[in-house]
Amino acid sequence: MKVVRTAVELSDAIGRNESVHFVPTMGYLHDGHLSLIRAAARDANAGRPKGVVVVSSFVNPTQFNDPRDLKAYPRDEPRDIELARSAHCDVFFAPDVDTIYREGLSGTRVHVPGVSERWEGEFRPGHFDGVATVVAKLFHLVVPTVAYFGEKDWQQCRVIAKMVDDLDFPLSLKFCETVREPDGLAMSSRNARFRPEVRAKAPALYETLREGARAAAAGGDLRTIERGAEHALRVAGFEKVDYFAIVDERTLERTDSPTAGTRVIAAAWIGGVRLIDNVEVPV
Ligand code: PAF
Repeated sequence: MKVVRTAVELSDAIGRNESVHFVPTMGYLHDGHLSLIRAAARDANAGRPKGVVVVSSFVNPTQFNDPRDLKAYPRDEPRDIELARSAHCDVFFAPDVDTIYREGLSGTRVHVPGVSERWEGEFRPGHFDGVATVVAKLFHLVVPTVAYFGEKDWQQCRVIAKMVDDLDFPLSLKFCETVREPDGLAMSSRNARFRPEVRAKAPALYETLREGARAAAAGGDLRTIERGAEHALRVAGFEKVDYFAIVDERTLERTDSPTAGTRVIAAAWIGGVRLIDNVEVPV
């Protein structure tokens, strides 16, 4: 595996490969990231000739609307390099901020209308403009054939899908299933911030999402289910629920009657840590 830091080193390391399988990350890798890298490696190995697996590790300042969150974001590059190597990454791209934002942090931004504006977009103003901008830049630098994202950040998946569609990026996207701890908590770099007594309560988010999805599939009134779930989360120890909503999984708009392609999405705070997660409604 090559570790590269500049655009020139990156393009030299990728060479003229037939297919480039790309996993963008913000580092502090966990099993969720490793499952994306392994999926990329499987696809790369299935190609003739074999493709190349590229992982980027870049804590993107423009997607943090809270500077304290950016400062507290966990980092451990030596560990990330070893983990990426073990999951069969070929090129580990770890640029610094000036390499990605040569123009400074107030240059052109990519805004994806509609799907980026609700839910996370309301609670984290500017977040998805930062995500779409950095992902567009990384796509231009890496020139992937396939890019891999985790379904845990479902709204992010839809924002990127719309950007790729609207701007004709010549690549395909793969959204991979959320990887969970044995008790159901979705893997996230932010889980490292939990105190043990809070960590024990955190799986209630996934349990409440599943309960909401089951009730929606059974024909319950969706707005009543949402309100009941918010109450259940507060009882379980969550100090604030930003949203709990049953939505169309493509547009992210609230739906009144679940169909195949309905998702329950939520964001809530526990022990000062903001968790997001989602599940499909099993209809
Ligand atoms: O999901 C993430 O880790 C980030 O939002 C991404 C896609 C790497 C862009 O910085």
